[in-house]
Amino acid sequence: VSELFVSAPGKAILHGEHAVVHGKVALAVSLNLRTYLRLETSTTGKVCINLPNIDTFFCWDVSELKQLITYSHVMRAVFKFLCMKRSLVFTLCFIFSELPSLTVSVWSELPTGAGLGSSAAYSVCLAAALLSASGAIPTPLKEWDHTGRWCQEDLELINSWAFQGETIIHGNPSGVDNAVGTWGGMLRFLAGKIIPLNRVPLLRILLTNTKVPRSTKVLVARVKDKINKFPSIMTPVLDSVDAISCTCEKVLSEMTCEPITGEHYNILEELIDINQHHLNVMGVGHPTLDTLCQVTRTRGLHSKLTGAGGGGCGITLLRPETDYSVVQSTVQDLRDCGFDCWETSIGGPG
Ligand code: MEV
Repeated sequence: VSELFVSAPGKAILHGEHAVVHGKVALAVSLNLRTYLRLETSTTGKVCINLPNIDTFFCWDVSELKQLITYSHVMRAVFKFLCMKRSLVFTLCFIFSELPSLTVSVWSELPTGAGLGSSAAYSVCLAAALLSASGAIPTPLKEWDHTGRWCQEDLELINSWAFQGETIIHGNPSGVDNAVGTWGGMLRFLAGKIIPLNRVPLLRILLTNTKVPRSTKVLVARVKDKINKFPSIMTPVLDSVDAISCTCEKVLSEMTCEPITGEHYNILEELIDINQHHLNVMGVGHPTLDTLCQVTRTRGLHSKLTGAGGGGCGITLLRPETDYSVVQSTVQDLRDCGFDCWETSIGGPG
């Protein structure tokens, strides 16, 4: 292979954030905002990384890099990966073979540090590109159309390597972000088990970044304290969020096999509203998220936070009939509040 392209989507949580930490179902979906990677092999004796979004280009000599890798976290990740049967031969080849000269260019539509799975999309792209280049999986055809090109086993291999990338970046990830990046569509996440859901409709959304920084760790601890303080009050809230995720999954699955009606959208909107109230009850709301909900409500649209809350990002569901002018004026209103806002969709390919 002299050159190949791959891409992977970011992720949002549709329902079940925080409740998932307490054993409830969460639904994670792919965002139609992607990270793209081009890998070119060369004969320069160098490994180069090109990040045009941040005007960065740097290179190492292959021999230097091999030494660096041997003593780095990457090696720890590789050894962890060795424990997985299917990759044993491949991993041994990786360790003992010469590193090839190559240039990796990465660019992305995803904001970083906003809880939208940007690092996982990067890890998935890198894993897919290196596995393809090494011949472990077939070469992708086009940068955004891998559908049908890779079998389940190939995708599992990509996902396991991407997970190792995530452990380097995040320490202790749940694995849901790299799974969404690999399979796309929607995933049901329950008690550490990730189940890709085969058929989901493509839904139009607005994605808003309030740009308020927050710590997932602090917010998760806040919810835990509340549950410990008021178990009999908070347990039904968590059960209700679980039921919201299950109802949403059922409605989305109906939408793929029945004609889509306004009633499907009415239910999805009501679920969004109820869950947003629950998230406020859990203590992970924020005045900027209230503003998001109020601004979109004046245009007849429904929003909720996505991810950890306390600021961060929110999603707004758009109906198929939502007029372009309504979308444009809502985006402008939200930008006037100081937020970043994009029209995108969820449920696209991995
Ligand atoms: C953060 O994106 C989602 C949380 O549920 C934390 C987690 O699941 O690890 C808040």
